[in-house]
This record gives sequence, structure tokens and C-alpha cells, in this order.
Amino acid sequence: MARIFVVGSGVVGTATGRGFLHAGHKVTFIDVDERRLEALRSEGLDAQDGLDLRAEPSSFIILTLPTPNVGHTYDLSAFEAGTVSVGQALRESYESHVVVVRSTVPPGTAEQVVQPLLEMNSGKVPGEGFTVASNPEFLRAASAVEDFRHPWMTVVASRSARTRERLGELLQPFGGDIRYFSNPAEAELIKCAHNIYNATKISFWNEMWLVTKELGLELDPIAQTVARSAEGSLNPLYGIRGGTPYGGVCLPKDTQGFLGVADSMGLRMPLLKAVVEVNDRMAQAAAGGPADVR
Ligand SMILES: NC(=O)c1ccc[n+]([C@@H]2O[C@H](COP(=O)([O-])OP(=O)(O)OC[C@H]3O[C@@H](n4cnc5c(N)ncnc54)[C@H](O)[C@@H]3O)[C@@H](O)[C@H]2O)c1
Repeated sequence: MARIFVVGSGVVGTATGRGFLHAGHKVTFIDVDERRLEALRSEGLDAQDGLDLRAEPSSFIILTLPTPNVGHTYDLSAFEAGTVSVGQALRESYESHVVVVRSTVPPGTAEQVVQPLLEMNSGKVPGEGFTVASNPEFLRAASAVEDFRHPWMTVVASRSARTRERLGELLQPFGGDIRYFSNPAEAELIKCAHNIYNATKISFWNEMWLVTKELGLELDPIAQTVARSAEGSLNPLYGIRGGTPYGGVCLPKDTQGFLGVADSMGLRMPLLKAVVEVNDRMAQAAAGGPADVR
């Protein structure tokens, strides 16, 4: 059975490694933080400060490195440093290994950052020495280990059909829906869109919460009713077709009209304003006008 190396043994890395251990796999945790390594070793886990592939048969190397933001950019410095060390370890190996990006990264990272860094530092090319895949993590920090063991959605992407198949065999026993993509950027965008969608919903209800406060109403019974009345909430496929603005009578009327209601209360509703603006631009493009998207 192929060993699984977890590179970056923080919240996601330890949940991932523990999940694979629980499923009977051989797991080695890699980290640069000596205290993390000691904590893992004190639990009897195999934890190392570097990746050694010299005597290692073909393995899975899972990148769960940090990718924090600095303002409006992702800081990929730690992620890149970890990837460089994987490339250097690959140079010493006679086997081919699957390098899996599990961190949340901007679309394009696996092919435009990881792959070139691995090539440069290993002296090898994809398909000979390594293949690259994307398998984003959807777990929630509060229930990380449980979420890893029981995923409801697993996304696997790689240009290599054999790599998709091997990752599928590795992850399928955990259950849930598995979706395969041939372009890693698709998986990377799925993870970003997943988080942004959740964030947008939360901001929507916070904006509504400000409206209820202004009106002296309780948000909870209102939000809980809309959560079960609005098709956008009930039907997961509602509203997800790109390039299709909303139309008809009700949605344009009530989004525009409510902006006036908010104005009369002296309340700013930046999200609702943006909803109308995006729709206006889409309607213009759909009518054959210039797609004003920049
Ligand atoms: N925390 C979550 O709930 C969650 C959920 C889904 C996805 N993610 C994503 O997973 C990734 C990891 O997040 P996290 O919360 O586990 O981060 P974390 O900070 O908890 O863990 C990252 C670990 O990587 C180690 N590290 C840093 N540089 C290294 C290097 N060069 N080599 C080896 N190890 C190195 C750090 O010491 C740390 O232990 C991020 O991209 C994050 O966005 C996080």
C-alpha cells in the first residue's frame, strides 16, 4: 500500500493524515514547526522535518500547506517553499509519485506554480517522476477529523487519467459524491467558489439583519422561513447558469424597489446594490451589448 506523506501538518494536514491512518494507510506527517512535530510524535505518529523519498516506493504526497491572504492577494510563500522541498525530494527518487494539492489556492496554481517548481527542483517532468493533482479540502475547522472521514463531496482533478483513477480508489472508501475533472484549475475554482458562495450567503443575511434591526423585527423567524420558501435556497440548481440574468417582473422590481426602502431608512445595502449592478451588466451582455466586466 502506497505511503501517504502529508506536507504541512496543521489543521487540515492532521485531519487528513488521521483520516487515512484510520482507514488503514501508512502516513508520515511532514512539518517545519518542531513543536507540531513533537506533539504528533508524542501521540506515536510518524512525524518528520523533511521529505525523504530515496528508498520510497511510489507514494501520495499531499500538500496541506498554508495559503493565507495578505490584503487582496494570496501569500503563497510557505506553499511554494514546501513545494520546492517536495521537488528536491523527488530528485532523489527512482519512483513516480502523485503530488496532490489539497490547500485552497487560486485557480491555475497546480499547473502554473506547483508543476514548474517540481520540474525545476526535481529535474523531472510530469508523467516521469511525478504527476500533479488537485483534491481540495472542504472540511470545517470545528469538525475537521469527522468531516474528513465522512465527506459529502470529493473533487479530484488531474490531467493524468491514471492519477485520477488512483486518487479515486484512495478516496472512494470515505463515501460521498466523487467528481472528476481533467483540469486542476476547475477543482481549484470549485473550492474558491464554495467558500465565496458561503460567505455571500452569510453577508446577505447580515445585510438583512441590519434591515430587521431598523424595522424593530426579529431576523431569525424571517430568515428561517425564507430559507424554506425561496427557490434559490430550496433548489441547489436554481440560479447557477452563467450569463443568464434574472428577469421577469418580481426580481427586478423588488431588488430595485427595496434599494429605495433602504434609502428611506438611511441604510446602505452594498450587497443588494451589487446584485442589481451585476444583473444590469449581464442583461446588457445578453442583449448583445458590450460585456462590461472589467
Ligand atoms: N482550516 C480549515 O478549516 C481549512 C479547511 C479547508 C481548507 N483549508 C486550507 O488548507 C490549507 C492548510 O490550512 P490549515 O488550516 O491546515 O493551516 P495551518 O496553518 O493549520 O497548517 C499549516 C502547517 O503547514 C506547516 N508548514 C508551513 N510551511 C511549511 C513547509 N515549508 N513545509 C512543511 N510544512 C510547512 C505549518 O508549520 C503548519 O503546521 C490552506 O490552504 C487552507 O486555506 C483550511
